[in-house]
Amino acid sequence: MDDFHYRDGELYVEDVPVAAIAAAVGTPVYIYSQATFARHARVFREGMAAIPHVHLAYAIKANPNIAVLRVLANQGYGADVVSGGEMRRALAAGMSAADIVFSGVGKTVAELRDALAAGIGQFNLELEEEGVVLARLAHDRGVRAPAVLRVNPDVDAGTHAKISTGKAENKFGVPISEARAIFDRLAPLPGLDLRGVAIHIGSQLQSLAPLERAYARVGELVAELRAAGHVITHVDLGGGLGVPYRTDDVFPSPAELGAMVARVTADWDVTLMFEPGRVIAGNAGVLATKVVWVKPGVGDPWVIVDAAMNDLARPALYDAFHDFAAVRPSGERMSANIAGPVCESGDTFAKNRDIDAVASGDLAVFRTAGAYGATMASTYNSRALVPEVLVCGDKFAVVADRIDPGTIMAAERVPDWL
Ligand code: LLP
Repeated sequence: MDDFHYRDGELYVEDVPVAAIAAAVGTPVYIYSQATFARHARVFREGMAAIPHVHLAYAIKANPNIAVLRVLANQGYGADVVSGGEMRRALAAGMSAADIVFSGVGKTVAELRDALAAGIGQFNLELEEEGVVLARLAHDRGVRAPAVLRVNPDVDAGTHAKISTGKAENKFGVPISEARAIFDRLAPLPGLDLRGVAIHIGSQLQSLAPLERAYARVGELVAELRAAGHVITHVDLGGGLGVPYRTDDVFPSPAELGAMVARVTADWDVTLMFEPGRVIAGNAGVLATKVVWVKPGVGDPWVIVDAAMNDLARPALYDAFHDFAAVRPSGERMSANIAGPVCESGDTFAKNRDIDAVASGDLAVFRTAGAYGATMASTYNSRALVPEVLVCGDKFAVVADRIDPGTIMAAERVPDWL
């Protein structure tokens, strides 16, 4: 079932025509389907049904809009946050502090202090010194901070280098070979309840094999830690499951992930935590855009759209593929380059792509833009910050305003010596 579908020749999100949203809100605009978000959340949970104790922490970096977070909170999800700002969003959306996991390789002392004050459910430590500082801060408050140690298993996730996190040369976690010694030193600290380990090897994973290798190493570590007398009650398996950006891509499902995890972790006897992001959000959103010009090129023509790399950075950053589809396709096709108005050649969404034929003024969407889309937007070239719309059945609401360049400029000052 798909909540982005054609009806009478035009693209709808649930029961709302994309064209109606574009007419009301303008373009570019991110459009999310609430039903898709909720369904993905349900499917992921159901995929883990064979695992006795599960905690689901949506990785809110994928899409931190507070309306989206509310949808996930209503589905029983907590959050994985990586900054004080993300923590504030999760709390503002109504998630309980106890259901929030604080990850991140550069948590500042101020962030650790604020998270302790908020009663965050778990700190995922990235280095020994962070554990020492957290223990002291917690001890000063008269509490014990629930924490796990993130280990780096040195596994190649087989994904884009910029979103790989589990290789030894990456900045994340402590080397798994040193985890036991670090545990021995941190566990006795009175301010810490060091209760397990965490792992996250990368994003947009196309195969379960690297995850299984990494989890197997974690299993060995858990046994080693227990043999050394440590009490291990929680293991955080991170996120990373990929989603199809192309219609013919095949990816492992949450159910397949769940079956693999149930098998590999059968004798762990812990609460397993998951931090899914993209698999929940990716296919729950599109970026709607309008064709500004179709400009002749050396080979294929350039379809210049009003969305740009500042609105959807993934193609420029990772050479990512986002399917492009006309809102009212004529049935004709064309081979084209698709680019935004920003003044660099990197602002190109596609080269020599076979697409629905479009002309200036036509509406189109980039698909699979619900994850790492709006959240990575900027105002480069003094463009507006792109708005976001949430659809529910035949209703829609603007859940993030378009922030115009004047508002951004209002925060700037010319000093009095000029
Ligand atoms: N947990 C941790 C510790 C993470 O670092 C991440 C993602 C996740 C969970 C969620 O991973 P997911 O399930 O979404 O794969 N901007 C990039 C993706 C960066 C992912 C960063 N970490 C992109 O647009 O592809």
